[in-house]
Amino acid sequence: MTSIELSTPSTGKYTQPTGLFINNEFVKGVEGKTFETINPSTEEVICSVHEATDKDVDVAVAAARKAYDTVWRKETPENRGKLLVKLADLFEKNIDILAAVETLDNGKALSMAKGADVPMAAGCLRYYGGWADKIEGKVIDTNPDTFTYTRQEPIGVCGQIIPWNFPLLMWAWKIGPAIATGNVVVLKSAEQTPLSALVAASLVKEAGFPPGVINIISGFGKTAGAAISSHMDIDKVAFTGSTVVGRQVMKAAAGSNLKKVTLELGGKSPNIVFNDADIENAISWVNFGIFFNHGQCCCAGSRVYVQSGIYDNFVERFKARALQNKVGDPFGEDTFQGPQVSQLQYDRIMGYIQEGKKAGAKVETGGERHGDKGYFIQPTIFSNVTEDMKIMQEEIFGPVCSIAKFETEEEIIATGNNSTYGLAAAIHTTNLNTALRVANSIHAGTVWVNSYNLLHHQVPFGGYKESGIGRELGEAALANYTQTKSVSIRLGDALFG
Ligand code: NAI
Ligand code: MG
Repeated sequence: MTSIELSTPSTGKYTQPTGLFINNEFVKGVEGKTFETINPSTEEVICSVHEATDKDVDVAVAAARKAYDTVWRKETPENRGKLLVKLADLFEKNIDILAAVETLDNGKALSMAKGADVPMAAGCLRYYGGWADKIEGKVIDTNPDTFTYTRQEPIGVCGQIIPWNFPLLMWAWKIGPAIATGNVVVLKSAEQTPLSALVAASLVKEAGFPPGVINIISGFGKTAGAAISSHMDIDKVAFTGSTVVGRQVMKAAAGSNLKKVTLELGGKSPNIVFNDADIENAISWVNFGIFFNHGQCCCAGSRVYVQSGIYDNFVERFKARALQNKVGDPFGEDTFQGPQVSQLQYDRIMGYIQEGKKAGAKVETGGERHGDKGYFIQPTIFSNVTEDMKIMQEEIFGPVCSIAKFETEEEIIATGNNSTYGLAAAIHTTNLNTALRVANSIHAGTVWVNSYNLLHHQVPFGGYKESGIGRELGEAALANYTQTKSVSIRLGDALFG
């Protein structure tokens, strides 16, 4: 079994096994494979972790099924909730180690990992712990001779596939509602960022979950991921990642056992600034909207539309604001932007930047690599971007923002909706009527007014159009993990004597 030595000032030395977490134990994969995970700040190997293949998915699913049938179905909702709350407490207690591992493996600024990712993950787990004993059915009165009630039952074994942009937070978004509603899970982390999921797995055991209820595996999409989505004994698959792979997951589900599918996919979200906006405030949120997490957010505000009356002023001042974003070592105290997650993502983003330049958009700032080691990219702003350009239509998933000018509200509603995606949008205005009219007209699952990227575990999040199926977070996510059973009891005589 491989392991990694970690150390933080508050935790001291800490050894994390890097096996597959099945039945509450870290184990080697059936085929004994391992792969290396890279530190994106230095391009150096951090350590190797054990790799799951389809055979390990079988082992994990069998463990989950057994736990479901023998233990978890008999557990009280109250105890499910207590375990989730305990896990949330352990996340908070271990915030230093969780945040440090996230920064090491993913490259996000430590201040963000500590200020957002870990506390939000803990908050999410605790929130769903609170829901565990509030999953209720209904009594439905159809006629005096029949007593009918519904039960919200768990779906069973859930396969969960998460991406690398918020490794720990996505872990919590997936595990929280699934466990609260009485399911068991096999979760596959992203191959770029397997480490925080393993530290969290150790905390699952410490919290006291029965073996087999939460299984965490590291591995690749084409092997372990595909084995999850096509598995005949997985009842539901929840996926977060690219729209391309989302389609494959749905196809695999359709071609196997018609497992239930929820998808959280990409976006190209419009961020709309009206003439009457508080411009300083708007600039801050537009900056945060695109550059937070290095642009690696599914809901990133990557299409910025500014009304003509303030366009030149806005572009000038936004450019100055972006230049203040400190790019560099993610462990640095005042760093805002670290490296992109991988060489592949770096290359994809640089490819889009080249496309934008070739298409004739104007580079206001950035457009190049930052430094000479690590996958760092300068915060990049393109102006004069037209609707037909790739950088206005396709998800770039990096620190690259496309700006265009608009004249009227009617025009910007049409342009804002001119996307195959529909994950999020924002409107900056001091006019309440404008805010509400536009918010109601935008085809997106989340609309922010005078802000951006403000997610909260109490508030549903998910996509219109090709941005996804189903909603995560809030009460809405419970529907992803329950199925309704109707029970009708005939009280009177036979209907047809
Ligand atoms: P991806 O969609 O390939 O990976 C996401 C997860 O899916 C990973 O765990 C991966 O192992 C798994 N996966 C890959 N192929 C699979 C398959 N055939 N069956 C089952 N699971 C599979 O995303 P990737 O390549 O890391 O990033 C590509 C682009 O996807 C990004 O540039 C970005 O545009 C988008 N993306 C969107 C995210 C979001 O939050 N919505 C997160 C990550 C990426
Ligand atoms: Mg890594």
